[in-house]
Amino acid sequence: MSLQDLKIKTFEEYQYQYQKSVNQPELFWDEIASHFTWKKKWNKVLSWDFEKLDVKWFEGATLNITENIFERNLPTLKDTPAIIWEPNSTDTENKTLTYQELYEAVNQCANALKALGVGKGDRVCIYLPMVSELAISVLACARIGAVHSVVFAGFSATSLSDRIIDAEAKLVITADGLRRGAKTVALKEVVDEAVKNTPSVEKVLVLNVLNENIQFNPSLDVKWEEIVPQQSTECTAEEMSSEDYLFILYTSGSTGKPKGVVHTCGGYMVYTAYSFTNVYQYTPGDIHWCTADIGWITGHSYIIYGPLLSGATTVMFEGIPTYPDAGRFWEIVEKYKVNQFLTAPTAIRSLMAFGEEPVEKYNLSSLKVIGTVGEPINEEAWHWYAKHVGKDVCPVVDNWWQTETGGIMISGIGNLSPQKPTFAGYPLPGIQPVLLNQSGEEIQEHEVEGYLCVKFPWPSMIRTTYGDHQRCIDTYFSNYKGYYFTGDGAKRDADGMYRIIGRIDDVINVSGHRFGTAEIENAINEDPQIIESAVVGYPHPIKGQSIYAFVVSDHPIDKQDEARKSILETVTNIIGKIALPEKIQFVSGLPKTRSGKIMRRILRKVAEGEIESLGDTSTLLDPSVVEEIVKNRI
Ligand code: WT7
Repeated sequence: MSLQDLKIKTFEEYQYQYQKSVNQPELFWDEIASHFTWKKKWNKVLSWDFEKLDVKWFEGATLNITENIFERNLPTLKDTPAIIWEPNSTDTENKTLTYQELYEAVNQCANALKALGVGKGDRVCIYLPMVSELAISVLACARIGAVHSVVFAGFSATSLSDRIIDAEAKLVITADGLRRGAKTVALKEVVDEAVKNTPSVEKVLVLNVLNENIQFNPSLDVKWEEIVPQQSTECTAEEMSSEDYLFILYTSGSTGKPKGVVHTCGGYMVYTAYSFTNVYQYTPGDIHWCTADIGWITGHSYIIYGPLLSGATTVMFEGIPTYPDAGRFWEIVEKYKVNQFLTAPTAIRSLMAFGEEPVEKYNLSSLKVIGTVGEPINEEAWHWYAKHVGKDVCPVVDNWWQTETGGIMISGIGNLSPQKPTFAGYPLPGIQPVLLNQSGEEIQEHEVEGYLCVKFPWPSMIRTTYGDHQRCIDTYFSNYKGYYFTGDGAKRDADGMYRIIGRIDDVINVSGHRFGTAEIENAINEDPQIIESAVVGYPHPIKGQSIYAFVVSDHPIDKQDEARKSILETVTNIIGKIALPEKIQFVSGLPKTRSGKIMRRILRKVAEGEIESLGDTSTLLDPSVVEEIVKNRI
């Protein structure tokens, strides 16, 4: 049975499938899952309890996701490109790996992992640039049943170390360095720093990317080139239970440190392939390009797993949209005749700023579906994208989902579903979103706004947060009993289409990257001069949101520029450059209620420049701090 059979072909069929998925969810998913290759079939499709967060899909079944990518596809796709790797620099040669070549490379890496003592259930932290070995490492883990935890290579040593410790990773896979535009970053140095206090780490596998002379620690480090290529190109896939962990991916929430979101083998496989095939209307032979980094969930699901399970050719791009110039994306689309293109609003907005010339210069006629993901898209960017990239013929699919949901939840489906600028649209079959009001009741009407929740399980949903199940329950299943709480606010129009408004919790989305305010505040507070801080997000024309920090010192600061520089360095060291506040204001105190709670509402207004409508400040402990904050705002 081909996964192509899962493709919905008309909007009427979508409506029919959607109803079926709600009325008979078990039958619906039973039929879909039957299209995959299992070693043993399930005895129960679904059992669930949101209160204890105990969700099991395809219980009793066993499989290996890489067999569904390789053994299943190889008979027909042996010589078909699986990955096309496009380097950062246009002077470097590109690389194509066919399904057979990728299969062999994955097996070699899998055997090397075994030789390094990694086995089923062990955690492997992958901290690599966007080179093909990143995808190979991910799949090699899956092949032997090791749990991968990819950390985006822009995170600092402290962030990396926290993630290694939390996951108790046995092995770290990294490279000497990475290239990003005109810059390089010495990754191995970051890892050396990170593994100083990580007792679980037994080995560090180091890939040579830059030909840099790295510090080599013989008791820990192993060179990729000295262990991987020698291995056999055969490796039996480990038999995994459907609910065995496939991977951990860390993401930020409104409180505490980033959480390790856990996804499991069976459900994740079924849902990423199903959603990929439908949303992108994938047809065999299509070239799919998602511009995300594999360090984020979008890369996991729609560069690696979704496309490769479906037998697609997936493009992996090492660089950035503006290097060597703002035509790079479109040059790549033309070069590989990309059929489906997926990027983030922040990239669209940054390219819009260069005008139409760079995009009009290339032949984009191969494109069939174009997608946007990661943050709400504004009207102007939507229209620019539809017109200049999609040439008003490609449907724009706005994919709403999250690290926790594993796959796309609400989105247009190719050109089948009606499209409305800035609206994500309808839920995919199997997804039951609801809007709740402030008292936690479901709003039935249309033309309303509410808190976006999901009331029924779906196969690729989060199962736990690594090492702390209660935290997962508290974060996602306790605000509203019986619902998964997304943290987003949404609007539903008269036709039942959804538009995502944005986070309603203390999460800031900068260029599609998620940060908790608490996480950034904790980092700022590490600065020796700072005793307290509060950060909020405010609208930014390209990044979507930017970070505004209000900081308190215990002494008057004369050299504010120096102090700001020091804070920026502290945040860079603790989280990474991607989390830097754009504005830092020194204040003598923060607006707090009598019970000591920071009134972020007021700070948000100040950051947004809406100082005329600060609202009631009479409940503040000291209302005069607000005057000072407003007066000195940046
Ligand atoms: C948050 C999840 C999974 C995509 C990559 C980000 C926001 C995501 C959209 C969209 C409006 C979106 C939400 C969500 N978001 N996609 N199409 N329209 N907002 O994954 O890092 O887990 O962030 O990104 O606020 O909750 P993530």
